[in-house]
Amino acid sequence: MRVKPCSPPALLLLLLAAGNTFLATAFFIPDRPSTNATARRSLFFPSTFDEADQRFQISPPHQFIQAGPNDHRGPCPGLNSLANHGFISRSGVDTFLNIIKASNQVYRMGVTASAAAAVLGLFGGNLLDPTLPISIGEPPDNVGLTGILGGILAPPSGLTNTHNQFECDASLTRCDLYICNDSHTLQPKYLQPLLDLYAADSNITNSVAIVSKHHANRIADSIANNGLFFFGPVQMIVGAFTALQAPSLFANYSAEHPEGIMSVEGLMSIYGATRHPDGTLTWTRGSERIPDIYYRRPGALLYQWDLPVLLPQLLEMWALYPETLSLGGNLGQPNTFFPLDLGAFTHGAYSLDDLRQPDGLNLICFAYQLVQILFPSLLGNVNDLLATVLTEVGQLTNGVLGTFVCPRTMGSVDMSVLDKYPGWVKSKTKKGIL
Ligand code: HEM
Repeated sequence: MRVKPCSPPALLLLLLAAGNTFLATAFFIPDRPSTNATARRSLFFPSTFDEADQRFQISPPHQFIQAGPNDHRGPCPGLNSLANHGFISRSGVDTFLNIIKASNQVYRMGVTASAAAAVLGLFGGNLLDPTLPISIGEPPDNVGLTGILGGILAPPSGLTNTHNQFECDASLTRCDLYICNDSHTLQPKYLQPLLDLYAADSNITNSVAIVSKHHANRIADSIANNGLFFFGPVQMIVGAFTALQAPSLFANYSAEHPEGIMSVEGLMSIYGATRHPDGTLTWTRGSERIPDIYYRRPGALLYQWDLPVLLPQLLEMWALYPETLSLGGNLGQPNTFFPLDLGAFTHGAYSLDDLRQPDGLNLICFAYQLVQILFPSLLGNVNDLLATVLTEVGQLTNGVLGTFVCPRTMGSVDMSVLDKYPGWVKSKTKKGIL
């Protein structure tokens, strides 16, 4: 199947991204990433700290309340914590725009990055409602849908049920869907090695390297154990993006550590995990909690977690652990990993080496051209609706837009190239999409 580009909303998203990409290209991106924390500090945080702006006081009505059994919670610890503190609806179902705003206001996730995530979240959202509500977990109740077009060509499924649309294999702390039949419950056996990596470094400033190592280990584990492991272009980008969220958004950006420091306790709190006296680690659904003393990222646009920060982090991850760029999947049995032919998928526009270029330009262009190509056909007749909402998102960026031209164009992709991967075929057959 050839998928062709078009669409105003996707272009709008592209424009939003282009603005920040313009900013990103103004940054120095090292050829070989330094493992020196001081270098990184000056790269991302030129000694800015503002107590009033960054100290995040939690007070009623935003006190922590553990989610009840009827509240929706899912695979994202960030959104689960926002709901447990009432920054988005405690029910776990909230609108596209509120989810973006809360991610930005509480965690300083940049508006472009959170809008991109929320657009992917629409795979589980209710597209028949003009506010585009998304359940962060299981399918929402009482959506009153009898037709087939609640989610994207399906009733709204909630983020939990977006396997290979958004939710993907080799997550930091969740099991692969086709191994456990559950990809939203935190597995202590995956969180523990991440905590161990952090605990081994008593003065953690290179959080990106730590989480990258864990991400690479999780991919290796999926290749070794999940015959239906699938890591296509979207999954590779989502996997890296969500992995980098943990150190970038959960860290404490205090006066002592303006570059951010990730403590084991802080990580456990936002993940909702508890250490017992006998040393065991457990997780309770709905218990993700923002630490009482939490200093968020600086509010200035350049320091929020958006493309200017994310892009060098991605390049650092891929340079340190090139296996995190392993596009492809297993062929039905563990350890049968077969690389994706990116040239065939992109009709010759990009090779894997192109994506690895140190300036990151090809990578960003590839990601956004892919969004531009895939979303129009997936979003179909909700384009106008999305355009309206994304215009509001654009207003949140205070008009920080620039001009940007991709050196290569990718006019279409060949989705049939993915059909050699049984994990992809199984998920698309189940959803009836793509
Ligand atoms: C628009 C807002 C957001 C959406 C739609 C979203 C959605 C998701 C989804 C679907 C996943 C599962 C991906 C996978 O299977 O690997 C995920 C994972 C994750 N998200 Fe979010 N998210 C959002 C905002 C945030 C924020 C604000 C944070 C941090 C404060 C965050 C942190 C994470 C982390 C760390 C993971 C990896 C979880 C793990 O496997 O351990 N997200 N997110």
